[in-house]
Amino acid sequence: MEGNPEHAGRLLVRGGGRLLGDVALSGAKNSALKLMAATLLTSGPCRIRRTPRISDVDTMTEMLRALGVDVARDGDELFVSAAGHLNDCAPYELVRTMRASIVVMGPLVARLGEAMIAMPGGCNIGPRRIDFHLRGLEKLGAAVEIEHGFIKVRCGQLRGAVVSLDYPSVGATENLVMAATAAEGETVIENAAREPEIADLCAYLRGMGAEIEGEGTSTVRVAGGRPLHGVDHTVVADRIEAGTYLIMGAATAGDVAVHGLDAEHLELFLTKLGDMGVEVAAHDDVIRVRRDGPLAPVDVSTLPHPGFATDLQAQMMVLLLLAEGTSILTENVFENRFVVVDELNRLGAGITTSGHHAVVSGPRGLTGTVVEAPDLRGGAALVTAGLVADGVTEVRGMHHVDRGYEDLVGKLGRLGADVERVADQGER
Ligand code: EPZ
Repeated sequence: MEGNPEHAGRLLVRGGGRLLGDVALSGAKNSALKLMAATLLTSGPCRIRRTPRISDVDTMTEMLRALGVDVARDGDELFVSAAGHLNDCAPYELVRTMRASIVVMGPLVARLGEAMIAMPGGCNIGPRRIDFHLRGLEKLGAAVEIEHGFIKVRCGQLRGAVVSLDYPSVGATENLVMAATAAEGETVIENAAREPEIADLCAYLRGMGAEIEGEGTSTVRVAGGRPLHGVDHTVVADRIEAGTYLIMGAATAGDVAVHGLDAEHLELFLTKLGDMGVEVAAHDDVIRVRRDGPLAPVDVSTLPHPGFATDLQAQMMVLLLLAEGTSILTENVFENRFVVVDELNRLGAGITTSGHHAVVSGPRGLTGTVVEAPDLRGGAALVTAGLVADGVTEVRGMHHVDRGYEDLVGKLGRLGADVERVADQGER
């Protein structure tokens, strides 16, 4: 990472230009990481195509190698084999780096009958609890204990059961579906998450020989005990990357088309853009937005899919700043996902928050300055703000953004954005 401007810590964004052109979407971060974890379920070779070149995939690669899995990369393809001796312990320094590591728990318990995962801890958008994961595994017959900062899960044989989730947790649904493939009998997960990435994981598991139905609905059924083999799978396109570029296109009064995604994955989001006066056209796997007139304010509430995606909340806040009126944005998924508001306000946003509500009044003229990305999607929001701010915005902490956006500078540059990566002081 050092010395390569591509991964340098800061991004200079000169605002004012319109974004025009096309974006080839990468594979979804929030699917690829789980498909990688699911390779633990079989000793057969797995080929994962359209894997995004992002740092979270690098971290999951390190995690799998620490567990004894062979991982090779060729461009956007991963070749993974969990055929050798596997370790059952996911180390703290990797779990701390990426919370999503928790999704190795289900597959490890399924394959080895035990797992030791360092407690992931929270992050700045919330405590990120894992109680639904652990309760669900206990329902499937596992014994769970937590000591010395590690979650220890053991079971002789997992047994199918009905698991009702208090909340449609994405990670809990994924861990439990993967564990259930090794349980004796049928497992029914009620109040399951319905995100498109869950459907992608289930298609992948079915390709391995698993028997699963109901993904995309609130009730997923898994007939456990089927022998699982290797699979060749292409990761679903990243709907959050898509939404981010579509917001950037609308914010800059541009004309942007993203390629590779089923518009159904962003249905409510696209409706909201339309309600604001953005021209939206979707056909085949292309979604295009155009805007040359004023924007109307809209109220937005984030909810589990098919509700408005919390991962697009911060970016949407910037678009709402350009609307002629006041919008109320309500964050219902995470406890503390307005962290970026302070940095947006340093650009002149004037956003006020109270609990889970943010009041966004526009149209606001933003002026460029130095800002610090607090997290992945907050960083994407700051880049979006820089595209419409007067002058130059320097976004620091771009390592957060590199976790989830492949080739951001290249994709933005091809849309005509005036962006440049620069190294932090002291970086070579
Ligand atoms: C996944 O996180 C995504 N991450 C998140 O994307 C996304 O925001 C989130 O789903 C919601 O869509 C990955 O897929 C790697 P949850 P996850 O379990 O699985 C509470 C991004 O920017 N909860 O649905 O952790 C939890 O505290 C990231 O790409 C419990 O209380 O999300 C949170 O408030 C950010 N107990 C809410 O549920 C549990 O056992 C949603 O969490 C589990 C969750």
